[in-house]
Amino acid sequence: MLTINENFIKIPETYLFSEIARRVNQHKAENPDAEIIRMGIGDVTLPLPEASIEAIISAANEQGKSETFRGYGPEQGYDFLRNTIVENDYKSRGIDIKPDEIYVSDGAKSDTGNIGDIFDISNKVAITDPSYPVYIDTNAMAGRAGEPNSNNQWNNIVYIPCNEENSFIPQLPTEKVDIIYLCYPNNPTGTTLTKDQLAVWVKYATENQAVILFDAAYEAYISEENVPHSIYEIEGAKEVAIEFRSFSKTAGFTGTRCGYTIVPKTLFGFTKDGEKISLNKLWLRRQTTKFNGTPYIIQRAAEATYSTKGKEQVKSLVEYYMQNAKIIRTSLEKIGLKVFGGVNAPYIWAKTPNGETSWEYFDYLLKEKNIVCTPGAGFGTSGEGYVRFSAFGNREKTIEAMARISK
Ligand code: MLT
Repeated sequence: MLTINENFIKIPETYLFSEIARRVNQHKAENPDAEIIRMGIGDVTLPLPEASIEAIISAANEQGKSETFRGYGPEQGYDFLRNTIVENDYKSRGIDIKPDEIYVSDGAKSDTGNIGDIFDISNKVAITDPSYPVYIDTNAMAGRAGEPNSNNQWNNIVYIPCNEENSFIPQLPTEKVDIIYLCYPNNPTGTTLTKDQLAVWVKYATENQAVILFDAAYEAYISEENVPHSIYEIEGAKEVAIEFRSFSKTAGFTGTRCGYTIVPKTLFGFTKDGEKISLNKLWLRRQTTKFNGTPYIIQRAAEATYSTKGKEQVKSLVEYYMQNAKIIRTSLEKIGLKVFGGVNAPYIWAKTPNGETSWEYFDYLLKEKNIVCTPGAGFGTSGEGYVRFSAFGNREKTIEAMARISK
């Protein structure tokens, strides 16, 4: 008899954004004329930078000629992209990252979800609450989260609440943990940590031989000083942290798929016997076995985002979305909602106006205003009573959505 991985039946039947899509489709089927404005999933709406399109066309032409055709590429990514990342994302900030510490992939969702492969399931995991659902769900699938409890939480996960009371600053756990997920600028709250606040976690990880899994997918949206763009800006982080980056939100690659992960060579885990093992080596083994590399054409498109033209085009994409964020923030504030985020991140985290649950307010916005947001409870227990608005929409629709809510 075939037996299944029963962890899959312990997690919610559908992934958060699939459940939202299901509800939206149902509403659309019942109201075919409804002009729905989508501010739910953080999916970009502007086209790819022109520089990337040119690179795609040129790389596609190369693939059409036998002299320049390429088959399997290196699983870790082509040198042209890894070297460009070193120069532009790290060297320019005074951070010493070597090309062979970079793993190019099909995005941060895959990498943050797959990274658990290299860690034993006995590790104690700490996750900020609310959080991007991939962190919890993938740990649950692996059996590392334990059992779900009546509070919709898992008995083996240490939840680090981030809420209004603690100004969305995660406090160190009181019990010892081994794996810590941090995402800054934060999805879903849009809030950030200063260098000193992040340094507290690096110190904790150093003292406890823990690893920080730092999701920096929204780094391009940082506008304020003293907000670290990379965890490696913090001294000692190269000994304790893995960093995930993505071209999805930076350059509109949500459907094009490219990201990368930094696994420093100075980062080690241990066998049960205490032998020190390089995490870079383990991730290399994992990727070369289970992943066959991001397509050449896509890596050329990602590389092009770092050209002079590419950088300007990326900057204007980011500015466009951040202008949307400002419109959302100020409109919601005007009608008396308490809002967070939206300054260094394309997400606005809003408290529901009359103490509704987040799904109640989600349903109200969908049914009465034809607006899709994301209910905070979908990101964890501490997200209850909040909803998230994405600033990745089209300008006119963003303005229209705010006008509908303000009415
Ligand atoms: C989100 O809306 O939280 C993100 O778009 C999801 C993702 O990046 O996979």
